[in-house]
Amino acid sequence: MRPWWRDAVLYHVYCRSFADSDGDGVGDLRGVVDHLDHLAWLGIGGIWLSPTMPSPNADWGYDVADYRDVDPALGTLDGLDDLVAEAGRLGIRVLLDLVPNHTSDRHPWFLDARSSPTSAHRDWYVWADPEGETGAPPNNWLSFAGGSAWTRDEAAGRLYLHNYLAEQPDLDWWNPEVRDAFDEILRFWFDRGIAGFRIDTANRIVKDRLLRDNPPARDALHRSVTGMPLEQRYSANRPEVHEVLRRWRRIADGYDPPRLLLGETFLFDIAAMAGYHGNGDDELQLALNLPFMFSPLAADAMRDAVTRTVDALPDGAWPLWNGSSHDVPRLATRWCGGDPARVRCALLLLLTLRGTPLLYYGDEIGMGDTTVPPDRVRDPLGLPGSARASRDGARTPMRWRAGPGAGFTAAGVEPWLPFGSEPGVDVASQRDDRGSVLHLCRDAIRLRAATPELREGGMSLLPAPPGVLAWRRGDSVTVALNLGDRPATVGGVEGTLALGTDREREGAAVRGELGLRGWEGAVVVV
Ligand code: NOJ
Repeated sequence: MRPWWRDAVLYHVYCRSFADSDGDGVGDLRGVVDHLDHLAWLGIGGIWLSPTMPSPNADWGYDVADYRDVDPALGTLDGLDDLVAEAGRLGIRVLLDLVPNHTSDRHPWFLDARSSPTSAHRDWYVWADPEGETGAPPNNWLSFAGGSAWTRDEAAGRLYLHNYLAEQPDLDWWNPEVRDAFDEILRFWFDRGIAGFRIDTANRIVKDRLLRDNPPARDALHRSVTGMPLEQRYSANRPEVHEVLRRWRRIADGYDPPRLLLGETFLFDIAAMAGYHGNGDDELQLALNLPFMFSPLAADAMRDAVTRTVDALPDGAWPLWNGSSHDVPRLATRWCGGDPARVRCALLLLLTLRGTPLLYYGDEIGMGDTTVPPDRVRDPLGLPGSARASRDGARTPMRWRAGPGAGFTAAGVEPWLPFGSEPGVDVASQRDDRGSVLHLCRDAIRLRAATPELREGGMSLLPAPPGVLAWRRGDSVTVALNLGDRPATVGGVEGTLALGTDREREGAAVRGELGLRGWEGAVVVV
């Protein structure tokens, strides 16, 4: 049977910024329930909730202190069950964020691990002895937050590994007890009706047993995005990680319907990303595609990224397309420079390529990044001393309507991150405007739902004039996007203009030639 997520449009809810139901300035699970009607109206088939588990929030949920509960700031376990049930009634499945690479340093496992050399969880983490008189780390591995990936634990007199913050000690995935513990965590949530997981940093969890030095990074994209001069050859991406993914896939496939594993494959090489689908049916079902996300919104670059992705995936695998996330600037800003015409083209691209689209909250209204003043920065990577840029600009509250509180929280309450202000970029205004980005997004999702070829049909790129990206889906659907300023004409297109960034043109017949203004896109159906 065709898996549900191939036909669905997925949507990433960054819980703390989606909707605040209790007036504390922080979004919560009840807030998500209260806005499920928006997601159902939009046509979303599955939501991924950013981390929901109890956390001291050194890295906003990506430092988990208990894998079987809900963070009190977001709600309760019962509240999450309610959310899953309410969403299910609307045909929306719920994915959680699983963080297996590391725990919080306050997780009972780590507290126990550092308590004594003979404690039960000592070997659940990666330890090394400081070297020489200087107490140097055993290798050159770097943390994403900057500096060495090793921190000295005074009580232990040893160093522990953390690929991220010192508050996020890495688990030792060579330890079979760690593997067993996560099997049970997966089952705990699957048994509760969770439809799957977005797996944090899925390619990084197994480390080199010999702790060998990483070589210099040659990939320019890797260096510019991570700011790291070293390739993660030994501190991540080890071949043995595939054993773990296969093990999880067996568990996921044991459920009815099979649960979804969507991996954050933070890789800059498409072939390496593709490898995380295993044989096409035994590892991740969906994988984050960074080279696509970081391609400029330009015809040549996108054609290249799409072609390389499709060519690299093993038979049976299925692509995932997204343009925004909580870790990088939003597509409206990064791809589109805030230009609504470009945002429309970007959304049409994501929603009509062969594969599963993943939207980030606010993409549907063309929400751009917000400038967060230094005294409001909450991202640890944006705090003084960090080598990285703050990610807060892409994490600011959803704007449900204009006016105080933005429909996110009560008027007068200070949200945990400041609101952005882009006139007309809120859900209520755009719902009232049939010509809005929001309506275009919804209509594209509806067209996708109503047109089997847009969901299941094959995809072939078509010859097109410079600046234009055009492709066919199945036998009867043509998509053409003019990703440039100059008008262009695409030949060989027949049918009815079913959906266009210029809504006035919809319903018109196309006979052979499709003319497009700069930054105009259209879907033509025979
Ligand atoms: C990737 C997540 O997306 C990011 O937000 C987080 O900081 C790191 N993994 C560490 O968990």
